[in-house]
Parts: sequence; structure tokens; C-alpha cells
Amino acid sequence: MHVAIILSEYPAGLEVALKLGLEVIHVHEKEFPDGELYVRILEPERVKSNNVVLFSTTYPRQEKALLKTLLAIDAARRAGAVGITAVIPYLAYARQDKMFLPGEPVSGGLVTWLLKSAGAGQLVTVDVHSTRVLEPFQDKAVNILVSDLLVARALNYLDNPVVIAPDKGALERACYAARAHGLNCDFLVKQRDRITGEVSYVPREISISGRDVLLVDDIISTGGTVAEATRIILSKGARRVVIAATHGLLVGEAVRRLEESGAYRILLANTLSTKHAHPLLEYVDITNKISAELKRLLGI
Ligand code: R5P
Repeated sequence: MHVAIILSEYPAGLEVALKLGLEVIHVHEKEFPDGELYVRILEPERVKSNNVVLFSTTYPRQEKALLKTLLAIDAARRAGAVGITAVIPYLAYARQDKMFLPGEPVSGGLVTWLLKSAGAGQLVTVDVHSTRVLEPFQDKAVNILVSDLLVARALNYLDNPVVIAPDKGALERACYAARAHGLNCDFLVKQRDRITGEVSYVPREISISGRDVLLVDDIISTGGTVAEATRIILSKGARRVVIAATHGLLVGEAVRRLEESGAYRILLANTLSTKHAHPLLEYVDITNKISAELKRLLGI
């Protein structure tokens, strides 16, 4: 039998669990005065000899969220779970999927290795920045793409848009979404200063004059990437730009940057526990897609 454990990091896990008809086993979570975390599975006997589906996500407070997830996996394993599937829609640290500069760690690979070492047998995530970080799980990792759902919603605002990736790394995601809706895709050439993090664009001819444009990316963190890309696209004569990004971290001044960029609307998936209320922002519910993927994966 499959049972669900839902950490407070990802309350939408409850909707997925209910859609799948999973019994939910409650956990007690707390933080000690010194900041250390504590997790206890209530009724651990209901975990024994069962398959656990553990829902969490790792933003905000990435380190705490990640550590809490590891603690819960360890607790489920010690309670006698026969299998543990970690469902983590936003997988933090996945952008560091290799050593870009000498002396760096491969943070993304370390995170997934820790999840596996703690006892997770399968990992389900959403639109991970780099699938390379899933390697420790080999064929036991599933990366659910949701850009097709974001594009479907964007078509409420755009007429026959061209789908643009703000950099070459995002092209596969953008083209997957474009293909699903019979649209064309193209990309901009982004440069990021590896020390300062500043984003700039290299000129490249793309024919978007008078067109509607849908900008597709995985993450909006500071908003620098999509805001700059929007400005460039509008300066090339595009009629309207809608941004579709899976994970809306929206740190610091991100929302102001997006406002100033001239974007018409910003669509985000509900992969995090936090939501920002702003007239430009719209959240797209992806729990049906997660449920469908889990149903297939777990054979339930
Ligand atoms: C980087 O390659 C990612 O795909 C995103 O474009 C990036 O993380 C967005 O960060 P920011 O919003 O800070 O520019």
C-alpha cells in the first residue's frame, strides 16, 4: 500500500495525495530555539511495510527545507517503509550541475545524492534546471515538464505567439512547450558574469516585429534574466510579451523589475508554498499533472 507524508513546505501535496486516494500520515515538525529542526512521524506503525510518498519542496529557506526533507526520509526508513518516493517540485541547488570555476562543488549532484543516501528510492521533481543533477537516481528519477500547461494559459492573452527561450539552456523547455501547441520557438543569447551574476544579451537576429511573444524559463529568481529579455524583445518591435516560468522565487526587487520590463503578464506554476499577490502574476495549478505522473509511476 502507498501512504503519504506531507511536509509543511508543500501544502499542495495534500491535494495530490487526495487525488490519488492516499492515506495521509501526519508529522510533527518543529524548530528548536537554536534553529535546529525536528520531525516525528505520528503513528509510525502505519508506515511499516508500506510505500511512502513524501511531499516537500525546497524553497524558501532551501537549507532548512532540504534538511527537513532528509530528516523525514530517514524517519520513514527507520519506521519500516519498504519504499520512499520523494516528490520535490522545486529542487534547490540544481543550477550548480557542474564545476563552472575551479574549486567549486557540484551542489546539485550532492543534494540528490543526499536524498538517495537518506533512503529515497525514487525522486519526482518538476522542471529541474538540469537533469544532470538527477544522475544519482538513474532511471528512478522523474522530471515533470509543465511548460505546456503554462503555454496553454498564456494563449488566453496572446495571438499565435512565438515562444522564446531567454538563453540556449532554456531552449529545450521552450520548444517542448511550443511543440505541444504547434508554435515556433527561438532563443536569445544570454551571458552571465560568473562573479557578479549580472545578465547581458548578445545581439542576435530574431524576427518578432509585430508578433506576440511568450518567454519561457524555468526559474525567476531576481527577475534579471526575464526582465532584460523582455526589454530586448519589446525593443525589437514585439507587440506583447507574456512570461511563463515554472518556479517563481521572486527574490528582493524581482516583482518591481518585472513591472518595469513592460511584460504584460507573468505565469508561474504552484511549485512552492509561497505565492506573491500582484496584478501581473498568475499561478497555474499543476497538481493534476503531478497526480497523473505519480499514478503512472506508482501503478496506483
Ligand atoms: C538560469 O540559467 C535559469 O534558467 C534562470 O534563467 C535564472 O536562474 C533566473 O535567475 P534571475 O531571475 O536571477 O535572472
